Amino acid sequence: MIRTGKYPNLRLRRNRRNTWVRRLVRENTLSTDDLIQPIFIVEGRNKKIPIKTMPGIFRYSLDKLDTYVKNLINLGIPLIALFPYIEKKYKDSYGSEALNKNNLICRATHLIKKKFKDKIGVMCDVALDPYTSHGHDGILKSNYVDNDETIRFLIEQSLIQAKAGCDIIAPSDMMDGRIGLIRKALEKNNFKDVKILSYAVKYASSFYGPFRDAVGSKSLLKSDKKNYQMDFSNSDEALREVSLDIKEGADMVMVKPGLPYLDIIKIVKEKFKIPVIGYQVSGEYSIIMNSINKGIVDDKIIEETLVSFKRAGANAIITYFAEKIAKKL
Ligand code: PBG
Repeated sequence: MIRTGKYPNLRLRRNRRNTWVRRLVRENTLSTDDLIQPIFIVEGRNKKIPIKTMPGIFRYSLDKLDTYVKNLINLGIPLIALFPYIEKKYKDSYGSEALNKNNLICRATHLIKKKFKDKIGVMCDVALDPYTSHGHDGILKSNYVDNDETIRFLIEQSLIQAKAGCDIIAPSDMMDGRIGLIRKALEKNNFKDVKILSYAVKYASSFYGPFRDAVGSKSLLKSDKKNYQMDFSNSDEALREVSLDIKEGADMVMVKPGLPYLDIIKIVKEKFKIPVIGYQVSGEYSIIMNSINKGIVDDKIIEETLVSFKRAGANAIITYFAEKIAKKL
């Protein structure tokens, strides 16, 4: 029980009266250390292609990546998450391009790590959806994503990304058991320091729409991902997912989407005391950005949403606003 006084001895407004006192008693703050910037990359030269459904977000070709990443480093952002836009001609039902050591993601990772070393961390998604002709995260067998067959691909994908220099492997596929098997493969291949950020709690969400557009899988995906991503009605199940992934060797866990799932961030943090990363996903970004652009709300809501992740217990936030907010902070 919280012991409290009584009015008029107690006037809670006293501590809100001045900026300095508000600063003094503030419980949560946002810093650039909390921000992870997702970056979409594309094949070609001199490209910075706007993504229609994500105002202010672009796909960069590798020659443009340099300047962009340097800018993020100067802003103090500790980590970037790379996502590839793969041309249709490189997609097949197995997502074979994901296992090409020279694919876009591996070249980008290698380039950034070679140039910037430990000045910034690089995180890569492990899942096949940018690479498959059907837009699913894994291998289809009779129209069902086959768990164990998919993991075999994910292990290879993790290893080639680790080889390219990736600091954090982030499996976003939601297959059962993949964290343990990926961890084992990393150990065996002497990638002992490569971290695993598991998308442990990933809901089947309509908030991913603009992202699928950005990586070019939207028009290919004919069904939904409900038989591998979580039902948004559940929260006990989230704890089971996290507990499994921790046992299997995850260093950090993610909850995704963000704002509608702050309750999940809170219970995961309270129960497991592990680094928890919230993902403010593409749909959240676009809804907010469109409302700002239309003048419906002030852009101060960006910071308000990000602090709410911190209040819920997130250690950091993957957000398409990272660069923009870092400039303000
Ligand atoms: C791929 C992946 C998705 C996102 C991150 N990794 C989409 C999906 O699962 O369909 C969504 C990110 C966002 O919406 O910003 N597995």
